[in-house]
Amino acid sequence: MVYKYRFSEMDKAPFALEYGNISLISRHSNLPPTEDISLESYLTNSIELKGGPLVSSPMPEVTGPEMCIVLGLTGNFGVLPKAIDIEDQVAQAKEVKKFSSGFILNPDTLSPEDLVDKALAIKSVKGYDTFPVTHDGSPHGKLVGLLEKFNCSQKYRGRKVDEMMKPLSDLKEDGVLLYERPNLKEAEEVMRNNGYSKLLIVDSSGNLDSMSTWADVMKRENFPNATMDKYGRIMCGAAVGGPGKIEDLEERARRLIEEAEVDALFVETAQGDSMGVISLTKKILDDYTKSYDTPVIWGNVDNDKSAERLLTQCCENNDAIKVGIGPGSICTTKEVTGFGNPQLTAVYECSKVAREYDIRCIADGGIGSSAGVASGNIVKAICAGADTVMAGGLFAGTDESPGNIIEVDGKKYKRYFGMSSVEGLKLGGGTRYYLDLKDAVVQGKEFLLPYSGPAEEVVRETTKNIAYALRVHAGVRSFQELRKADLEFSIRPSYIEIKIPEID
Ligand code: XMP
Repeated sequence: MVYKYRFSEMDKAPFALEYGNISLISRHSNLPPTEDISLESYLTNSIELKGGPLVSSPMPEVTGPEMCIVLGLTGNFGVLPKAIDIEDQVAQAKEVKKFSSGFILNPDTLSPEDLVDKALAIKSVKGYDTFPVTHDGSPHGKLVGLLEKFNCSQKYRGRKVDEMMKPLSDLKEDGVLLYERPNLKEAEEVMRNNGYSKLLIVDSSGNLDSMSTWADVMKRENFPNATMDKYGRIMCGAAVGGPGKIEDLEERARRLIEEAEVDALFVETAQGDSMGVISLTKKILDDYTKSYDTPVIWGNVDNDKSAERLLTQCCENNDAIKVGIGPGSICTTKEVTGFGNPQLTAVYECSKVAREYDIRCIADGGIGSSAGVASGNIVKAICAGADTVMAGGLFAGTDESPGNIIEVDGKKYKRYFGMSSVEGLKLGGGTRYYLDLKDAVVQGKEFLLPYSGPAEEVVRETTKNIAYALRVHAGVRSFQELRKADLEFSIRPSYIEIKIPEID
């Protein structure tokens, strides 16, 4: 017996499906290899992602400001975790919003009293060879000079920076000093017209604001699809949610919206169909988001009845629903509780409800950790009705995920743990909100993920693969066309679960 269905009739399938249960069936394609494929996606009706459907999980080992910036630049989206102090989460969100394309906002600086040796040490780790010098060596102290590349040299070891730097008066004369941060185009013009490779920006009191380098300007110009707010700042989201006192959660939501101006708030819980989540969402909506027009995304749910219940109770001004109970690579919810609708079916059921309410649907978890595996599952999720896909394991091994590289037997790894693993619970509320950690239910585990290089490369590889699948196998130019095509799929005899292999 061959089980073949179209996505529109997925509910006729004999059993609920995981991504690994199905294979998509190719259609005739008349698109040439040169055909432009758009991966334009919508996180919410108001947040368009021009570069792709990728959203990073709000987990401390996955997303920090750097991840949000890379995902934002590449036209995707990052979400900051709730499992850190309010103060830190607000500061991280501000850092993302402060990021200015092509400008280094916290450059490595020296003090005039430092020795050139310090510059050489930074150079050996980070590769830079030009350093602004501030009166006290702090990144935003009063600018007093610039240590240039030809003076950042071994032969000047033991000499003081003060002797070797170009002083402020010369910098003023040269014109490399600006008193207002220009936009990217203006910075490029000033550098091009004057043959500079660096610009230093100071505020009206002469304190260093930022610096810009020709290499950075050129690099940032390569991101025409960046996810930007109306002021040209990178967009990012932030998670809030239990366990915790309602006042703390509200305080977090208020500060993230009012102070940090995040672009979307994620009410993030393991089981969204609960009284606590519904009342928190309603409260946030009433108190803040309506007046600030900040979209709220909530979850997680895994079936149509839960999605319906959430949406009937708090749909107004809400913009997306997040789907997935237990599919994540670090999840043990299915084993520990027995719950968790298979993810492809969960996405299908919930996205149908989301469409009735004219909101968007995010497929969260289980797409895989390596670029090749993840891209196929993303295509399946979108066929089943998802607008975007949230992933943790895909990004946790990259340079931009918080946390250090760990070396084991000469191989490089990064640590990745579930929010409800022992580590995650300790960090994210277990000890803070439960009376005792032993009362918390552990539903996650920890891995060492192979180090996977720059996140930009992982995004590039993943989106390249998705575009290929659309053009070559589905013969469509966009996700919209893909859903309209209502592809056929066949059910595989054996289920292949995408979990990260454990290493000793
Ligand atoms: P992937 O597969 O992308 O999954 O690594 C990331 C998603 O997993 C969820 N998550 C958890 N689920 N126990 C769970 O059952 C946990 O400890 C846990 N931590 C994260 C979350 O939805 C995330 O986006």
